[in-house]
Amino acid sequence: MRSPQATVHMNPMNRKRLRIGPGAPLRGPARIPGDKSISHRAVLLGSLADGRSRIVGFLDGRDCRATVDVMRALGARIDLAAPGEMHIRGAGLRGLQEPRAVLDCRNSGTTMRLLAGILAGQAFTSVATGTRQLCGRPMARIIEPLQRMGAHVHGRGGDRFAPLTFVPATDGLRGCVYALPVASAQVKSCLLLASLFSTGETVVTEPGPTRNHTERMLRAMGGLIEETDGRRIVSRAPARLQPLAMRVPGDASSAAFLVVAATLTPDSRVRLENVGCNETRTGLLDALQAMGASVARLQPTTEGGEDAADLVIQHSPLRAGEFGGDLVVRMIDEVPLLVLACTQAEGTSVIRDAQELRVKESDRIADTVAQLRRLGADVEGTPDGFVVRGPTPLQGGAVDSRGDHRLAMMLSVAGLLTDADTVVQDAQVTDDSFPGFAQTLAQLGADAVEEEERE
Ligand code: S3P
Repeated sequence: MRSPQATVHMNPMNRKRLRIGPGAPLRGPARIPGDKSISHRAVLLGSLADGRSRIVGFLDGRDCRATVDVMRALGARIDLAAPGEMHIRGAGLRGLQEPRAVLDCRNSGTTMRLLAGILAGQAFTSVATGTRQLCGRPMARIIEPLQRMGAHVHGRGGDRFAPLTFVPATDGLRGCVYALPVASAQVKSCLLLASLFSTGETVVTEPGPTRNHTERMLRAMGGLIEETDGRRIVSRAPARLQPLAMRVPGDASSAAFLVVAATLTPDSRVRLENVGCNETRTGLLDALQAMGASVARLQPTTEGGEDAADLVIQHSPLRAGEFGGDLVVRMIDEVPLLVLACTQAEGTSVIRDAQELRVKESDRIADTVAQLRRLGADVEGTPDGFVVRGPTPLQGGAVDSRGDHRLAMMLSVAGLLTDADTVVQDAQVTDDSFPGFAQTLAQLGADAVEEEERE
């Protein structure tokens, strides 16, 4: 086995690959970087508050940096005072300034879709763009309801894609009643942010329980927001938002890679400290527990309206299961990992209602199937999910992240289970949401080494 410390730091813009050796058990404690969804929202809402916000445990990853840069371009004063400690001097609800240049959301869908709710309500013109990948993701889902609120927003390809342009709404924004056609926290949050600049009430109903961090944070800041039966959210513009003071818990979606790694690797026992356990994010833990996994939640806490706990995971054999409906909404980013867990479970597993995976950073149904098959998995894609037969021994080989951070990390976990080295190409994308992913795996005892990719 190679030294676990052999990881090399390189310029994040360089293409890297991750070489994973099989066999080593994972043991020990680990800290997970801050929650990405909460970190984005802290920057956006902190920038709209009256006064200074202080956020500890901020995720300093590439996606959240995009949010910081666009909010700075709009006039918020944001400093990374110490690692993970963000200070924001908010501009107030009416204090943002016209940007001098196009706003670059890079590869971050959360940045673009949430920012759109803010830009739609401003008295100045702006343009938001991003990478080629982001400009290929659907934006009609936000453009259409924003237009109903009176916004003058347009997008490329007949209002379907970014870049997006925003021109001041002639009569300002007005609240609307909107039933989300897809379960999307980004669309819901876009409309709740637009409601901060609207007259009247905005009422959003959702078909499934999407993450509710925007609602919780707005309430903690004195926003006028009510959730009635958990599927219906009513929001009105407050006179002002109070600044935030919070510690961001570890990201449940990042912790999930280590939860599955420890569950599937014999002799493993891992403790993950201070992981977010908001019930809109814990679908994977529920699914794994139903399959026979051992995941204990210790030392529960609540801060800024968000629940967290230490997770203790031990290796366990798994049995197959059937998954769909609300459970899939509560683990939407973790479904590729569930597929990997199912390849090692006894029996045939079926995952349904996951069609949203087709429009994430990659087509996560097609790409999960194609890449896991390269390692010998018995998995098929369906229009809205997967059929997986297990347990199947995996073989080492070369796989590709397809430029998708969550696929890169899922495939790295698969590499722990193979009979020979697995190489994950284009693995620098792990920095989008989990900077230090390879180092964390190595620290827990995995044979994980980052290498510069040579063409
Ligand atoms: C996110 C919502 C989800 C999720 C994404 C982060 C958020 O997207 O996949 O990684 O922070 O609101 P959708 O709202 O498109 O489902």
